[in-house]
Amino acid sequence: MSVRQVSQSRKQRLIATRVNRLSPSGIRKFFDLLASMEGVISLGVGEPDYATPWHISEAAIQSLEKGHTMYTSNSGMLELRHEISRYLKETYGVEYDPAGELLITVGVSEALDLTMRAILDPGDEVIMPDPHYVAYDSCVMLAGGEPVMVPTSQENNFEVGAADIEARITGRTKAILIGYPANPTGAVMSRDRLLAIAEVARRHRLLVVSDEIYARLVYGVEHTCFASLPGIKGNTILLGGFSKAYAMTGWRIGYAAASSDVIAAMTKIHQYTIMSAPTMAQVAAIEALKSGESSVLEMVEDYNRRRLVIVRGLNDIGLTCFEPRGAFYAFPSIASTGLSSEDFSEKLLLKEKVAVVPGSAFGQCGEGYVRCCYATSLTEIEEALTRMKRFVGKHKK
Ligand SMILES: Cc1ncc(COP(=O)(O)O)c(C=O)c1O
Repeated sequence: MSVRQVSQSRKQRLIATRVNRLSPSGIRKFFDLLASMEGVISLGVGEPDYATPWHISEAAIQSLEKGHTMYTSNSGMLELRHEISRYLKETYGVEYDPAGELLITVGVSEALDLTMRAILDPGDEVIMPDPHYVAYDSCVMLAGGEPVMVPTSQENNFEVGAADIEARITGRTKAILIGYPANPTGAVMSRDRLLAIAEVARRHRLLVVSDEIYARLVYGVEHTCFASLPGIKGNTILLGGFSKAYAMTGWRIGYAAASSDVIAAMTKIHQYTIMSAPTMAQVAAIEALKSGESSVLEMVEDYNRRRLVIVRGLNDIGLTCFEPRGAFYAFPSIASTGLSSEDFSEKLLLKEKVAVVPGSAFGQCGEGYVRCCYATSLTEIEEALTRMKRFVGKHKK
């Protein structure tokens, strides 16, 4: 072993094993490379290209001017919990008690982490689709659990099947984790498929963690809130947030809705690690729910226009892409180039200055695909497609 390797392994010994086990996010590497380059069109970062609607920002500014700069209740402002409760009831017909069944978090990111830490004992298993959002397996592992993958593919529109989930249930299975509309594929799940998962979860007495951060971003289909399905609300931990629909990624507000015992357990961790989500951001979230609807509809309409252009464009240049009906991602196959998804992404960035994310960053079944985020202007999408066409032309198998 070289001196460098010895000192590296010594350093690793100082770090907890469960952290050493995590691999760095495959997305970050590309963003670091991208940051050092000029003239890049980014289809990489998964966030809206809009600024937060001004009336939402203004509500927060006004609260600061009034001196509302203290902590809120650990659970979050009661008014915000009331608004979320009202919104979930009006939109999906599902009822949560603002007093004990809702917790305001620092984005869905925190809600996901709290969920896993609240429900998992060492070795407990959580079943999830592959590919999946980058934080899903990491949060499970950080909480001492074991992620168990269910392969999904373009052939079945990246929807996860109840029978495939059931086949992976063991005595250690604690929960099923799903996130539809999905990052990175843009897949949505039909109500029937979700009903079948609910039936499996009920029969095996499992929790279902449903990350519905992209619930508002659907195109020509309806989003089904998992908790609204008959007889499953008690088993469900519903995660939602403001980052995507209201273009509020930087405000860091999300929430968890679940039975009062689960929320109490999550709140225990939250009170020691976070205390309360940022106060002015909670005020902004209240305004978003009260009067942000027209902005959401405008943005969704715009994403839809871009979606149609990118999906058609990718298919035309030989990167076959199933029609994503949600979120703001296209997930084309790059099989026609014969490149691995990392090679494709790195070469495309260096040669044509277009940033996409290798599908392998989202799990083994993401290999052979790249994620293209279309939350960017139509002009940029069209220019990116021109550059990608040139690139693909040079790399035909
Ligand atoms: C599927 C999914 N869940 C959760 C998050 C985290 O969102 P937040 O900004 O609310 O922490 C993201 C962010 O990209 C996401 O794509």
